[in-house]
Parts: sequence; C-alpha cells; structure tokens
Amino acid sequence: MKREATLLPLPETRAREFEFNDSDFQALRTLVKEMTGINLAESKRELVYGRVSRRLRALNLSSFRAYRQLLETGDGSELVAFCNALTTNLTSFFRESHHFDYLRDEYLVPLREAGRRGDRVRIWSSACSSGEEPYSIAMTIAEALPDWQKWDIRILATDLDSDILARAQRGRYAADRVRGMDPGRLAKFFKEIKEGGETTYQVTAEFEKLITFKQINLMHDLPMSGPLNVVFCRNVIIYFDKDTQRGLFTRIAKLQRADDLLFLGHSETLFKVSDDYSLIGKTIYRRNR
Ligand SMILES: C[S@@+](CC[C@H](N)C(=O)[O-])C[C@H]1O[C@@H](n2cnc3c(N)ncnc32)[C@H](O)[C@@H]1O
Repeated sequence: MKREATLLPLPETRAREFEFNDSDFQALRTLVKEMTGINLAESKRELVYGRVSRRLRALNLSSFRAYRQLLETGDGSELVAFCNALTTNLTSFFRESHHFDYLRDEYLVPLREAGRRGDRVRIWSSACSSGEEPYSIAMTIAEALPDWQKWDIRILATDLDSDILARAQRGRYAADRVRGMDPGRLAKFFKEIKEGGETTYQVTAEFEKLITFKQINLMHDLPMSGPLNVVFCRNVIIYFDKDTQRGLFTRIAKLQRADDLLFLGHSETLFKVSDDYSLIGKTIYRRNR
C-alpha cells in the first residue's frame, strides 16, 4: 500500500530552495530587532525567507546556518546588507522609542509647561512608510498635550512610494502590527474592527486633523516652506550615497531654524554630511544657530 505522506510534500519544504527552520527565523528576527529596532511579526516569516535567500545566492552560500555563522563571525559588512535587505519599507510603531521619549520630555512637555499653546508647531515624518511613524508621533502629541486640538500643531507625513502612502493614510493595521503596544494606548487610539474574520485596528479618525499625507521624493526639491520644528528622517538615507545625503540635508537645514530637532535612524549619521547640526543624543541632532 502506498503511503500518502510520500506523495504530498509538506508545504514548508515543497518550494524551498534552502532549509529554513524556526530557529533560523527566530535568530534573524532577534538580530533585526537589535540592529534596527524593528519588531518582525510571526507573519513576516516568508518575507524574511525571501529577502535573505537573495543574500545567500549573492554570497554563494548553501544554507541559512552558514549565513548565520557569517553574520556572527564576519567583519560586520554583511550585517548592513542583511538589515538593508529586510528593511526596505519595514517600520513599526514607536520604533527606536528613545526618539519619542525625547520628543515628549524635551520638546512637547516644555512647550506645554511654558504655556506656548499659540505657537505654530510643524513636524515632518519624511519617509513615513506605512504610517507607524507619524501615528506614533501623533500619539506622543496627544499624550503630552491633552488639549492638542486647540494647538496649531501639524504633522506632515510623506513618502516616495504612493502605494505605501495610501496604506499609511488608511491607518488600518493587522493585529500583529500592534502587538506589544501598551494596552492603554491601543484602547485610546485604535478601534477594533472585524474584517473578513480577522481583527484589525483602525487608528482614531481624530488624527486626520493632525496629519497630512503627501508624496515627496527626498531626492528632489522640497515643496514646503517651513519652518519645520522637528524632522524625522529615519532609516531612509542609508539608501543614498554621501553626496545625495549632503544635498538633502542642505535642503532640510534651510527649512529649520536654530534649535529645531532632527532624528535619524539607528545606523545613520551626519558625520561628513552636514555641519548645520550638532549631535545632542543618540541619533538626535539640533540645528545650529
Ligand atoms: C525603512 S522605511 C523607514 C520608515 C520609517 N521612517 C522608520 O524609520 O521606521 C524607508 C522608507 O523610505 C522610503 N523612501 C525610499 N527612498 C525615498 C525617497 N527618495 N524619497 C522619499 N522616501 C523614500 C521608502 O518608500 C520607505 O517607505
């Protein structure tokens, strides 16, 4: 009698060029979290396999085990390629959370305490991907300035990719995107929605007044007039060469005034790129006078 199992290869192994087991996924996931601050959900298993397989082929490696060994023992250059391969438009809520703590404690709370409600405050999320970054800024504002609706405060959220921008504007997230978020925040700023048997989370409509979404290519002239009190330009300039970065920060610096803030991604720096800013914290810059 034939055994059925031999006729039906497991879906896991059927289409795979390389063996990819749970410990490979967990190890790579932990490394991405350490390196970039991104929380890769369980549902990103196939994405990780697909993107990292390209690195295996490029390096002529035959297994994920060999690739992990290279990451652990190599000179670090593959770590950069590994992160780039995985983070093209990956993002997460409160990614690199120290930036949001800084925004709250060193910028928004002092504004509130100084009674500066009449001030015009403009914040730019310049490569906003699917929206987690501008919505995290919005939540930080709502928590730091409970009467934010009475402030002249706005967030401009932009990205080059119009599809990802449309997703950002929709503001609806699968459960695994909000996993780990403080339950109080989740209850306050999201509405649970059942969609085709799945639970999704819709960002509160109140933020529509606070955030404007727009397509902008950072390689081109910037169409806004400024001044921009706070700029988030995170995890995007790694894709640009140094000259492109210099051009971009010359244009951004023109839109900021003395003491305005600039946040870069965890592996990004203005060293040999711009003299218009001073480093004041981990990847946090202040516009010079
Ligand atoms: C890794 S995501 C960063 C998302 C978010 N800033 C964060 O740190 O989590 C990079 C984003 O940069 C966008 N991007 C790439 N090149 C760009 C360009 N020339 N102008 C504007 N956005 C760009 C991509 O579309 C992508 O959404």
